[in-house]
Amino acid sequence: MRISVIGCGYLGAVHAACMAKLGHDVVGIDVDEQKIAALSNATAPFYEPGLVDLLEEVQLTGSLSFTTDMTAAAGCDVHFICVGTPQKKGENGADVSYVDAALYGILPHLKAGNIVVGKSTVPVGTASRLSAVVTGAEPLAHLVWNPEFLREGHAVADTIRPDRFVYGVDGGAEDHPAVDVLDEVYAAALDSGIPRLVTDHPTAELVKTAANSFLATKISFINAMAEVCEATGADVTQLADAIGMDDRIGRKFLNAGIGFGGGCLPKDIRAFMARAGELGADQALTFLREVDAINMRRRGRVVELARELCGGTLMGQRITVLGAAFKPNSDDVRDSPALSIAAQLQLQGAVVTVTDPKALDNAAKRFPELHYESDLDEAINGADALLLLTEWKAHTDLDPHSVGDLVTSRRMLDGRNILDATKWRSAGWTYRGLGRP
Ligand code: UGA
Repeated sequence: MRISVIGCGYLGAVHAACMAKLGHDVVGIDVDEQKIAALSNATAPFYEPGLVDLLEEVQLTGSLSFTTDMTAAAGCDVHFICVGTPQKKGENGADVSYVDAALYGILPHLKAGNIVVGKSTVPVGTASRLSAVVTGAEPLAHLVWNPEFLREGHAVADTIRPDRFVYGVDGGAEDHPAVDVLDEVYAAALDSGIPRLVTDHPTAELVKTAANSFLATKISFINAMAEVCEATGADVTQLADAIGMDDRIGRKFLNAGIGFGGGCLPKDIRAFMARAGELGADQALTFLREVDAINMRRRGRVVELARELCGGTLMGQRITVLGAAFKPNSDDVRDSPALSIAAQLQLQGAVVTVTDPKALDNAAKRFPELHYESDLDEAINGADALLLLTEWKAHTDLDPHSVGDLVTSRRMLDGRNILDATKWRSAGWTYRGLGRP
């Protein structure tokens, strides 16, 4: 099929490359000339494992191109909207202006039988509103809401083999004409048995926000348990292992630590609360305020623990923060708890060095006042304390004996509860985890 993908960020660039891999003829469109130039040269403007190889592979076949010219959408059968919906400045709600702009940009090129597929995370009600705009411009075109569930760091695999497809169509009927078109787009994945659910527009939109809210709640739940463990001397990692053995609970997303960040979970729960307020259903989601508050408290707690670890004051202490990205295998620093903690430590008088395998350029744009060092040994050299805040393999693989020779004091605060505490302690380190004795 001929496919246009509007918006070539973390979601759209990966989606365009994966659609080409599935055998479609794809054009990726974005207003950002630098991004388009990079993608056209098969270089990714951000770090995502496997993406560059995939871009090279599909561009050789001639089935993927990138442009800033919206007229390239003319002649495509399917138009994916993959633009961002960031948090509005000074408000909790989501800014859907990029989604609106993308949709209005496609309208002049719509033909009978075309489908516009929204993948961005939007406030419930957006799809019905935009559906009317699509049919107003071309009565035989349709809008489908097909939320994306990919995780950064696993984006390529998650796009080609997602857990499920959700199609939100006007009226929610299985025999809606857009269903067959989207089935053809995803034919290879559907043939391999991946389930797909056809529903109406608002349900499809809510599936996405509900899923992210559930994940955020799960993380904050275990972080709340970490607070209780800290008050009682219990160990939250063992608690998580034990409750996670119950199939109904499950062990995934029960890793207590510095909390969630990134471009999705934090802003999605806030936008969801804001939207519920507009709909008069705010009481239903007041618990998400607590989920957010627990999450933000973790950052303060790490700063306090670092102070304790450094003997009661941060003033003049040389602290090396291992990690700037909000999670490993990504260079994304949006709402990164690691960076926010690094900045707070510096504000409180510590001499902070931040190291990260991929995210230092992005980090320096966001917090230019912090000191960054890309060489791991160099960053660790002479430190009074290490804080492991992003669990990159390079950090979790550190050997306590050899690292011990580099630092001034053997102090480790493991913000992800990922290191072997016994191994580090027996190598002479003062080891602190979160929610662990
Ligand atoms: C999240 C969802 O997992 C995806 O399904 C969704 O498609 C995506 O948002 C989106 O809306 O686009 P992502 O933001 O890439 O994906 O990251 P996650 O893997 O969900 O991690 C989010 C944060 O939670 C990270 O900061 C991570 O370190 C933290 N986390 C995760 C924990 O603190 N504990 C855990 O047990 C798991």
